[in-house]
Amino acid sequence: MTCMNPQIDAHGRLHHLLDLATLSVAALDALLQRAQAFADGAQAPAALAGQAVCTLFFEPSTRTRLSFQLAAQRLGAQILNFDASTASTTKGESDLDTFRNLQAMGVRGFVIRHKADGAVAALAQAAAPGVAVVNAGDGRSHHPSQGLLDMLTLRQAKGADFSNLKVVIVGDVKHSRVARSDLHALRKLGCGEIRVCGPQVLLPDAQTLHGCVVSHDFDAALDGVDAVMMLRLQRERMVEGLVESLEAYHRDYGLTETRLRRAAADAIVMHPGPLNRGIEITDEVADGPQSWILRQVANGVAVRMAVLETVLGR
Ligand code: CP
Repeated sequence: MTCMNPQIDAHGRLHHLLDLATLSVAALDALLQRAQAFADGAQAPAALAGQAVCTLFFEPSTRTRLSFQLAAQRLGAQILNFDASTASTTKGESDLDTFRNLQAMGVRGFVIRHKADGAVAALAQAAAPGVAVVNAGDGRSHHPSQGLLDMLTLRQAKGADFSNLKVVIVGDVKHSRVARSDLHALRKLGCGEIRVCGPQVLLPDAQTLHGCVVSHDFDAALDGVDAVMMLRLQRERMVEGLVESLEAYHRDYGLTETRLRRAAADAIVMHPGPLNRGIEITDEVADGPQSWILRQVANGVAVRMAVLETVLGR
């Protein structure tokens, strides 16, 4: 029987993590439950004993790369870090040849970030049996481990039942793989109301936004929400002429203490990082009592332990 979902092996098990769009609710929930156990202090120091895991990043990263490395280390794996600035890709070696060579060395887990949409899934197709690929962000398409850690953070703050939850995602949704993964996960977990807010030029197509309440008025979009998920303004959008000025963006879409009062009194503030302080979020909010931003980072390690254990730990 041919398996249509490349994340799932012939036995129905998750053997790559490429996206949340095609992940079942049961698989999503199992990963979140295991991640919560790791967040609570569960240990599995031998889960990946003797296995080599490579962080193969063709784009910069701080949180994702280092938390995957820490997660792999805590599970007993050997870690290899591919540095694109000093690797033979600078001499013209293809990504596929790089992947095949690392595989030939015996690497069994690949955590891959790439600027091109679909590039990680394409490399996963070249994976030998028993080799797992985890998408650490491709283009503007998917960032599944970020989506998972965001859901874990929401669960910790608001409980596992999302049916009465009101969430707003704010900013450059159009170019954000984080937003896409969050949207897939929020829908799967039955979020009561998903609002999306940003300037028209930074909002994606209608299909990406299906089921969302769309607004360009940040103050109105904040009314009574339980969670505010801010996105990084990708500054190159200014160069592209999509954003008039940083000042205008901050005025219209910056989260300030005053604005945050429109949300529910116990609303949480989230941001995937890195932060543009003073642009999409002020210092007072980012470092304030409603910020769960560093909790997201901490949850990143737990989620990535759960992911690596699931795809490689057999
Ligand atoms: N949230 C996130 O992906 O951060 P990094 O780019 O630092 O990994």
